[in-house]
Amino acid sequence: MNILILGSGGREHSFAHKIIQSSHCDQLFVAPGNAGTALIATNISLSVNDFEAIKKCVLNNNIKMVLVGPEDPLVKGIANYFAESESLQDVMLIGPSKQGALLEGSKGRAKEFMTDHNIPTANYQSFTKESLENGKKFLETLKPPYVLKADGLAAGKGVLILNNLEEAKQELENMLTHSKFGVASEKVVIEEFLDGIELSVFVLTDGIHYKILPTAKDYKRIGEGDTGLNTGGMGAISPVPFVDKRLMQKIENTIVKPSILGLNKEQIDYKGFLFIGLINVNNEPFVIEYNVRMGDPETEVVLPRIKSDLVELLEATFLQRLDQVELKIDDRAAATVMVVSGGYPEDYEKGNEITGISDVKESIIFHAGTTQKKGKIVTNGGRVLAITTLDLNYKEALKKSYQNIKKLHFNTMYYRRDIGFDLS
Ligand code: AMP
Ligand code: GLY
Repeated sequence: MNILILGSGGREHSFAHKIIQSSHCDQLFVAPGNAGTALIATNISLSVNDFEAIKKCVLNNNIKMVLVGPEDPLVKGIANYFAESESLQDVMLIGPSKQGALLEGSKGRAKEFMTDHNIPTANYQSFTKESLENGKKFLETLKPPYVLKADGLAAGKGVLILNNLEEAKQELENMLTHSKFGVASEKVVIEEFLDGIELSVFVLTDGIHYKILPTAKDYKRIGEGDTGLNTGGMGAISPVPFVDKRLMQKIENTIVKPSILGLNKEQIDYKGFLFIGLINVNNEPFVIEYNVRMGDPETEVVLPRIKSDLVELLEATFLQRLDQVELKIDDRAAATVMVVSGGYPEDYEKGNEITGISDVKESIIFHAGTTQKKGKIVTNGGRVLAITTLDLNYKEALKKSYQNIKKLHFNTMYYRRDIGFDLS
């Protein structure tokens, strides 16, 4: 069958890399894609939020499966658009309905869902402009640090963690009354700070059955030692070494099962990935966020460890037969390191030529912000390439990724040299 992937990052290149290995894939399209996906698939220049253009592309190219990479089109209802369009109804769209996508699109909705289904999460309350004063009083009842979350999508920037009460009150006001994060902060969730170590669990679900994919841990801060501004992610490791069988069983019983059962009980159409961000506090896992898609760069370490045919898994997801397929996982560990443009996550240059890619042999290079210009591969984003290696353990995998990064070059290139630093 012909397949379309929506998106343009390292996540989408990893999906493309995995999907072309399937005997079920005839032609693969990526929209809009990057220079890496152009090497293994056909890039189509369109916006992931332009549903009319996507429909045309699907019909013109006889596409039977669409895999949605980023959250934006999901939150805007691409799954509903496909389900409601007569000519697209049979196309296997992998991604939750708009109602399902609200688990990421609204922090308040996610918290209500967790409360309704008894899923462990930090205590919280939600506030709007009208209840600003109550919000300030609520802050007074909490211990620092204070966690303020814009309700809506804010490109990963909508969470503030503050040590000072007066500053927290001021920021709450900035969010609610001065639109600090635009409409995303018209509502704000204030929650208790959880002190622990973060990890992510990925689930593929058809709304009834589920498969737990490999765990991963990403490194969000730009600076070494987890300092500086938050980014989309500077590197990742899978599996998470401290997750033993007991902890995983607890995560499945107290978080994964009730989440899927909750979707089922609420009759929410959910055929896709559920990415559960967790904080482990003394071996007690709490949910800090749901995402309704795979993570980036987590996908770059999770997918290379999946041995099963991904197209078969996705088809079973759409047909609600996920219980009938087997998920086989590679025992080896995977590590990825992101190389980024200097200045990211703030302003950075684009159009710098990247050299050395063909010299890398032991690692897989997933392109993120790259494009082709006059036959050359040039930078086209903040996060540029993800260098993934599979090896016996994460330390060996990391060592090889770092050795191979040395072969790469572009002006302003930067990467964190301490991915995994907190694990040993
Ligand atoms: P979120 O977008 O909800 O994942 O939040 C972004 C980041 O803020 C997370 O990756 C955590 O590092 C941190 N964070 C969010 N909520 C909490 C919390 N309740 N306690 C401690 N850290 C948090
Ligand atoms: N790496 C975090 C995310 O994809 O949301």
